Amino acid sequence: MSATRQIHLGAVPYGTGGPGSHTLWLDPEIPGDASVDIDWFVSIAQLAERGKFDLLFVVDSQFITPYSPPHYLNRLEPLTLLSAVATHTRNIGLVGTATTSFNSPFNLARRFGSLDLISHGRAGWNVVTTGDAGTAKNYGLDEHFDYDTRYGRAQEFVELAQALWDSYEDDAFVRDRSTGRFLDRDKQHRLDHEGTYFKVQGPLNLVRSRQGHPVIFQAGDSDQGRDLGASVGEGIFTHAPDIPSGQAFYDDIKGRARDRFGRNPEHLVIMPGVKIVVGDTDEEAREIEAENNERDHTFTAALEEFGRPFGWHDFTQYDLDAPFPAEALVHGERSFYTQAKAVTDRAVANGWSLRQAVEATRVWRKSEFVGSPHTIADKLIEWWEARACDGFNVGVDHPANFRRIVEEVVPILQERGVFRADYEPEATLRANLGLPIPPNRYAG
Ligand SMILES: Cc1cc2nc3c(=O)[nH]c(=O)nc-3n(C[C@H](O)[C@H](O)[C@H](O)COP(=O)(O)O)c2cc1C
Repeated sequence: MSATRQIHLGAVPYGTGGPGSHTLWLDPEIPGDASVDIDWFVSIAQLAERGKFDLLFVVDSQFITPYSPPHYLNRLEPLTLLSAVATHTRNIGLVGTATTSFNSPFNLARRFGSLDLISHGRAGWNVVTTGDAGTAKNYGLDEHFDYDTRYGRAQEFVELAQALWDSYEDDAFVRDRSTGRFLDRDKQHRLDHEGTYFKVQGPLNLVRSRQGHPVIFQAGDSDQGRDLGASVGEGIFTHAPDIPSGQAFYDDIKGRARDRFGRNPEHLVIMPGVKIVVGDTDEEAREIEAENNERDHTFTAALEEFGRPFGWHDFTQYDLDAPFPAEALVHGERSFYTQAKAVTDRAVANGWSLRQAVEATRVWRKSEFVGSPHTIADKLIEWWEARACDGFNVGVDHPANFRRIVEEVVPILQERGVFRADYEPEATLRANLGLPIPPNRYAG
């Protein structure tokens, strides 16, 4: 574990184009089927590994409409994808998104435990409750769970998975050929869990990896979401538009971890998603950003995508120049409600029309991390030193841009001594992030 505080970097591949990047796939360097092309993901992971990134972060959703971004329309399932990437990389952490709303704890604990063994201790789980409410209909339900149920399930689910990962003490398998003894049966533990949402007997038929448990990430911004992150999260994926809001989130989460849950706040790394645009000069980078935004996020695309936090409610049905239809918020109640409410409150407070509210989502896409390599490195360090975050989840969009981040921005961070020059030998994801190995709860 590194003694001095270091910046942590994650790479978030968006394949053919994620939210707000509907024309990314027009880049000739991106294969048209990048989001289902394992060679593409391997090449991004290897490039990130050359840049000594802590982790590859794969987001996910399981509900689409014809308006969904290209990457969402057709993409690989995260754990299958990461298992393949694991065999082509050595040190980079592999974080996959999986929902606690439409999975069962035993099955998911087994799959993440397997990824952790396949990758020799590099697995991480981004715990989500599913923002896209329509997913429920793909799992036999008429509607998504309400928030209390979503987060109640999530809390019990994660704690259950962690308990299942301890099913075997580390020395349970004796494998003594001279005596023929394979297992020390006293070191296999059954759970017999009967909770509010789940009933699981156990044990899990899998040993722990050398990092003990996969690292738990969390993404979700409501009060319940923050409590989940503060209680069981070891990494938080969030969005922060500027340093003051990043600091407020950081203080809130770390304060909750310390005060409500008695945890060491250093054992929780906060990594907002960021968009970086590198140019030879700051002016050139801003021009590239403006061109990208204009092309990738036209007003029509922004309007079509606007309804996503509102359960993909169709906003094209409204008069663009009438007052913002605040009554639409009801459609977000079981979706990305925190985000939908923030969007609605802002529109109402400013007296905006729908057109102005949609335009604002395009303006907000301007990033602080746009400039020459030195400007970007300065900004990253400024945020990190101000404790607006512990690191950054860098969106991988245009390949040439990501190469410049790896080849021109990372070396500056390394020279300044705020980012690793190399991985530790046999690095696990926990080692990369400076997180402790959880002791087995049954070990004496
Ligand atoms: C930064 C961030 C990233 C998220 N990523 C995903 C994701 O990849 N897949 C998913 O199904 N939900 C994702 N979510 C949705 C959350 O798990 C949650 O269901 C949603 O944000 C609503 O909860 P909240 O009001 O607590 O934020 C994400 C949320 C945030 C804030």
